[in-house]
Formats: sequence, structure tokens, C-alpha cells
Amino acid sequence: MTPDPIGVAVIGAGMVGRAHANAYRCAAGVYAADTPPPRLVAIADVYEPFAADAARRYGFRRAETDWRAVVDAPDVHAISIAVANDLHREITVAALAAGKHVLCEKPLAPTVADAEAMVAAARAAPGQVGAVGFTFRRSPAIAAIARQVGAGPLGPVRHIVGNYWCDYGHDPQRPMSWRYRGGPGSGVLADIGSHMVDLAEWLCGPTRRVGGTTMTTVVTRRPKPLGVAVGHAGGVALSNEREPVDNEDICTFTTGYADGAVGTFALSRIAYGHANSLRLDVFCERGTVSFDLTRPAEFTIADDAPDDDVNGIRTVFVGPAHPYVHGGLPMDFPTVGHGQNDFFVFQARAFLDQIAGTGDLPPCPDLAHGLHNLRVLAAITAARQDAAAATGSPVATTT
Ligand SMILES: NC(=O)c1ccc[n+]([C@@H]2O[C@H](COP(=O)([O-])OP(=O)(O)OC[C@H]3O[C@@H](n4cnc5c(N)ncnc54)[C@H](O)[C@@H]3O)[C@@H](O)[C@H]2O)c1
Repeated sequence: MTPDPIGVAVIGAGMVGRAHANAYRCAAGVYAADTPPPRLVAIADVYEPFAADAARRYGFRRAETDWRAVVDAPDVHAISIAVANDLHREITVAALAAGKHVLCEKPLAPTVADAEAMVAAARAAPGQVGAVGFTFRRSPAIAAIARQVGAGPLGPVRHIVGNYWCDYGHDPQRPMSWRYRGGPGSGVLADIGSHMVDLAEWLCGPTRRVGGTTMTTVVTRRPKPLGVAVGHAGGVALSNEREPVDNEDICTFTTGYADGAVGTFALSRIAYGHANSLRLDVFCERGTVSFDLTRPAEFTIADDAPDDDVNGIRTVFVGPAHPYVHGGLPMDFPTVGHGQNDFFVFQARAFLDQIAGTGDLPPCPDLAHGLHNLRVLAAITAARQDAAAATGSPVATTT
């Protein structure tokens, strides 16, 4: 039985580790929780200043530099794993073996084989929660869209268009980091495409086929950082030495879903001016809905509800009529607004509720779901057309 209150820890105090830490601190304040506030026990980061700073800012009792100190601690019951993808397997397997509940960041692991080992570890620990952090499922607007499509009033999806454009890799002077290492598919596809694949399946059902993949690396070498950088790795001194980038900056692909929907997707980490632009357009049998992360607290919809003379695409401001908002935000009426950090709070609340067996938020996807996501990513990677081998159809030159 999980002790009361739940002792939580975060491994990794970089960009997303801070979002998890903040989320646990805020989780007690959302919804009519019948579990006590979690006990904020420890934050670990191999770089001590990050661990110490995050522990101070978010009110955790201890800062650790070795993740094993967290995994072994008897007062820690639940752990967020928020480090680079190639550490997910080792830490998740150790944490599950030590009796902890685990919320591991996406993509679940660098390879399908790693993820299979993580799923096996979760199956060997059936009383513990093993979850993966597909945080965009906690977007009130996207969750509202999910209610509209499929069995909802707009009916089955015919076509989904998903673009996730970031610019964190645009500047060739941005330093080398774990995000630029690994083979094809470990770049923009794994980093942000994993979210897009998950969202598309949430709205369209299981992916049945993928095709037409293109992958391009525009910035092929990056300077080695001289210091420790966080997140997308700006603002750190650089060496003159450059290292090769061995994964993709741009990825495009198509999908087909069990119910006949098709998907077209474009991902980029070098999209100038687009810091974090996730856009979904979902064309259904009886209407269209769209979401744009730059305006996270609204969505647009077109259907046949209004009279013809006032019909058109209309904006809906997300409020208490939609998922997550009532009780999830201190001021919960439309136009107050919310953002991506709030998604982590809703996710943390759901994870804690799952552990305690309380609440009515949708549970976090389990590790098997994260494995499935990796299998789709692997299929997308396998379907790539090799530009060097000129496998696409050539276009004749017009003189
Ligand atoms: N759900 C989301 O929306 C979302 C957003 C961003 C990142 N992520 C995922 O979160 C993970 C981390 O991404 P990030 O952007 O926060 O990375 P990051 O590079 O900003 O942070 C990683 C942190 O891990 C620390 N670290 C490295 N080795 C360690 C070790 N052995 N023990 C403890 N700490 C160690 C680093 O010092 C760094 O502070 C990745 O899997 C990424 O895909 C998810």
C-alpha cells in the first residue's frame, strides 16, 4: 500500500524536470483532491547547481546528484524521470525494482528494445504505476477537440494535418546536446514528433500504416558547449570544436488509421521564428476543428450548427464547459488563459490520483503505450526515402 502522503521526487532538473517539480508543488491545489498534498522529497541532477536551485525554488527537501540516491530512498514513493532519453531505461527499471511508481518522460526510450525491457519491468511490478508523460493529452483544448471528433458530433476524422515547428535548432551556433545524437528518427521525430504521433492516434485511432517519410539534417555540425546547458541549450559558452549532428532537423510523413483517416505531418526544429508551434487541423465527416499551441486556451470549429448567414469558422474560448478547467485553474472562466506548464500540473494530479486510487482524471498512459508510440516512430523512420539514394520520383528539368 502506498503511504500517505505520497513522497515524490524528480530526476533531472533541466527544462522539463522543472516543469514536473512545479507541477507536484501545484498538484495539491487543483481539483477536489481527497488525497493529501504530496510530500516534495527530492530533486536529483548530475549538475548540482541545477538540483539545488530547483529544490529551493519548488520547495523540495533534498537536492541529490546521483539518481540512485532517489531510487533507494525509503521516503520516496513516486518518481518523475526527466532526463535525456538514453537514461530512461536504466532509471525506470531500477525505480520499478525498488518499488517506486514511475512517470517517465517521452519518448519512452531511444529504441523499441529498451522500451520492451521497461514494459517487462512494469509487468513485474503490477502494484505500481508505470506511466509515460504524453503531456499534450492534458491540454484542455485538445481534450475538448477529442470529445468532438470520432464518436462526437463532428463524426469520424477524414484527414488530420499536424505541424510541430520549433526553432531551437535553427541557429548553427546553438551547442551540441543529447538532442542531436542518435541515428535517424532520434532527432525531431523522437523529440516532438512523439507527441504528434500520440495526439493523432488519440483523435484518429491506432496507426495502421505510415509512408512517404523524409528526413533532412540542415545543421550538420554544432559547437561543443563549455558549460552545462539546459533544455534547448542556449546561453552557454562554446568551444571552437564542432561535433557532427547525426539525426534529423526536419521530418515529414504520412499516416493511415484503422477507421480510414489519413494524416500528413511536418516537424521541424529549425523553423525560424516558431519557438513552439504545435498545430492540428482535424477534418471530420461533419465539421473541422483546429488547435494552435500559440493560443493554447482556445480552439476553432466549423460545423453546421449556426444558420448559413452567420456560419463560418468560429473561435471557442476554453472554460469550465471543457475538460480540466473547472477546479484545475484558480480562475477558471474563459479568456483567463492557461498554458503548457498547466498541462504538467494536470498530469501530476492524474499520476498522484492513480497511485492513491482516487480522482476522476484520465489515467496517464502506461509504459506499453510508450512502447507502442516508439513502434510507430520506428515504422516512420523505416519508411524514409533516402535522398542520397534518390529513391523518390525524379522531376524532369525544364530548360
Ligand atoms: N512532455 C514534454 O512536453 C517534454 C518537454 C521537454 C522535454 N521532454 C522530455 O524530457 C526529457 C528531458 O528533456 P529536457 O529538455 O528537460 O532535457 P535537459 O537537457 O534540459 O535536462 C536534462 C537534465 O538531466 C541532467 N542529467 C544528465 N545526466 C543525469 C544523470 N545521470 N542523473 C541525473 N540528472 C542527469 C542534466 O544535467 C540536465 O539538467 C527528455 O526525454 C525529453 O524528450 C518532454
